[in-house]
Amino acid sequence: MKLLTIVGARPQFIKAAAVSRVLSRGYSSVVEERLLHTGQHYDTGMSDVFFDELGLPRPAVNLGVGSASHGVQTARMLEGIERELLGGAYDAVLVYGDTNSTLAGALAASKLGVPVFHVEAGLRSRVASMPEEQNRIVADHLSARLYAPTITAVDNLRGEGLGSRTALVGDVMLDNALHYAPIARRGGTLRRLGLVDGSYALATVHRAANTDTPGRLRGIFDGLAAVASRFGVKVVAPLHPRTLRCMAQAGVECGECVVAVPPAGYLDMLALEQGAAVVLTDSGGVQKEAYFLGRPSVILRDETEWTEIVDQGAACLAAADPGSIADAYAVMCRREPSGSGLFGDGSAAVKIVNDMLKNL
Ligand code: UD1
Ligand code: UDP
Repeated sequence: MKLLTIVGARPQFIKAAAVSRVLSRGYSSVVEERLLHTGQHYDTGMSDVFFDELGLPRPAVNLGVGSASHGVQTARMLEGIERELLGGAYDAVLVYGDTNSTLAGALAASKLGVPVFHVEAGLRSRVASMPEEQNRIVADHLSARLYAPTITAVDNLRGEGLGSRTALVGDVMLDNALHYAPIARRGGTLRRLGLVDGSYALATVHRAANTDTPGRLRGIFDGLAAVASRFGVKVVAPLHPRTLRCMAQAGVECGECVVAVPPAGYLDMLALEQGAAVVLTDSGGVQKEAYFLGRPSVILRDETEWTEIVDQGAACLAAADPGSIADAYAVMCRREPSGSGLFGDGSAAVKIVNDMLKNL
């Protein structure tokens, strides 16, 4: 099987690493994997660092699309992906998650009749205006096989008539967390940053609904400052470049005891998550990793796709205002989530590879 894996944004490099690791260890004689990087993320700290840390194959193609409006960015990707597919005699395309790179990969391949496999299928926020919701619905409906991480995702896909193409495999991010967390723990990240286990909170913010609405952005950063002063913790915030740009434009500042640091590498991030008293985040991946690592989280959104984490009491939602965020912190800092049971057993990538081979 000649497989084109399409990635472009930070969480996709991480997710793809789990499947690539399985492919390169046991399947290199039956599957030839080539990686296409759309270039959606391009800063060293948003892209190269993950290739260096996670042993991903170097991209055979980098389209270098860069940042642009959704239409322009997706159109550039479509053109480049189609070109690669027409010249490459691929048997299948593998896409991850719900970014513009996912949408472009699924659309370009399905128009050419190349089967699409979609990892992390079936997530729904029920917010139709959310770019990721649009991307994931289209990608799911165009895909030949849908790899659902949770039972909720399976139910969502069944509800849309996609049950016969769906397999419940668990979450590839759990595969990675189990593999890399002990390595990350030994890496000296906390010592380097002058942090002590349990004495700080970890925050990430990058979701468009938060960064692009100045009132929400200000409410969140005031909320982080309120957590720092009310609970006497440092809040460490590795900030996405989008967030820094929007903060500068809106005149939002970090506030006292909220320490902005550059985007972290994956191993540093896993170490920071493991040592945090509480994780505050609007990231899908960071929400899940906090859960995998047994850390409670405050979700800086009005809704989440990962509802089971909230239902289990390991996370809670907080509105974008200081009182709501500080109150949520007060509840969550007393919780010790079990961190297991919802996302499979760490063998999602093996299940995906076996299913892909069966379905070609
Ligand atoms: C994208 C995904 C989002 C995902 C996130 C992961 C879409 C619609 N959104 O959001 O689902 O959660 O990636 O991190 O695909 N920028 C840089 N350097 C980079 C990359 C981006 O400076 O290497 C800045 C640019 O100002 C750019 C902005 O970040 O305009 C947004 O980047 P973009 O890739 O469009 O969306 P993300 O917010 O990263
Ligand atoms: N991540 C990272 N460094 C950071 C922030 C996030 O390595 O500074 C990792 C995080 O551990 C997780 C993934 O990136 O594996 C989540 O990606 P992101 O938050 O960018 O997007 P989302 O999951 O919301 O789509």
